[in-house]
Amino acid sequence: MLTGGKIGLRARHEDDIPVLRTELYNDVVNAARASGVPWRPLSPDAKDSPLSVDAEEKEDRLSFSVVELEGNTLIGIASVWGIDTHNRSAHLGLALLPAARGKGYGTDVVATLCHYGFVVRSLHRLQVDTLADNTAMLRSAERNGFVREGVLRSSAWVLGEFVDEVLLGLLVEDWKQGPRP
Ligand SMILES: CC(C)(COP(=O)(O)OP(=O)(O)OC[C@H]1O[C@@H](n2cnc3c(N)ncnc32)[C@H](O)[C@@H]1OP(=O)(O)O)[C@@H](O)C(=O)NCCC(=O)NCCS
Repeated sequence: MLTGGKIGLRARHEDDIPVLRTELYNDVVNAARASGVPWRPLSPDAKDSPLSVDAEEKEDRLSFSVVELEGNTLIGIASVWGIDTHNRSAHLGLALLPAARGKGYGTDVVATLCHYGFVVRSLHRLQVDTLADNTAMLRSAERNGFVREGVLRSSAWVLGEFVDEVLLGLLVEDWKQGPRP
């Protein structure tokens, strides 16, 4: 398991899935805002569930479950996706269960994903893509040194309206462990 200050990142377990489906996926507003694809109903045994344990782990995507170290309880999901080994870059994604938000865990998860990307995978550049009004995600990235590199105007269709997306990037040479002011 990868450990941060208060959280750990481990493989997805089969028994994580009902909790993630109920608390994250079945919250249609949250799922639509976080995923970039239209929400659709998922049966409990769906083989192509975005939450499922990936039997054939893909080269360009890794899925973690996030646990609170104290108590070892499941608090969310995190991913490193779009891993490009030629350009040595990847994107980060995360979503926490509602009760775990706003407690500093998101910032800790981004820090731990950066350690994984830069130290374990020797990547050079990490990117976060988020909706422009997602202050908690923007701040979690910025607290780890990500800088805003651009706005994709009206690029995301979210439940009836187009919303801007913000791209943030962090290069390994600018990465310092520990939160920024
Ligand atoms: C986005 C998310 C991962 C952030 O994690 P978090 O644990 O809630 O964030 P933190 O507690 O580490 O807070 C980070 C910063 O955001 C601020 N913040 C947290 N929740 C906030 C909110 N609802 N509104 C405004 N600011 C907020 C905190 O004050 C903190 O700011 P600071 O560093 O300036 O003090 C989490 O809120 C979440 O899972 N949201 C739903 C799914 C989602 O949006 N995922 C991202 C898709 S790209």
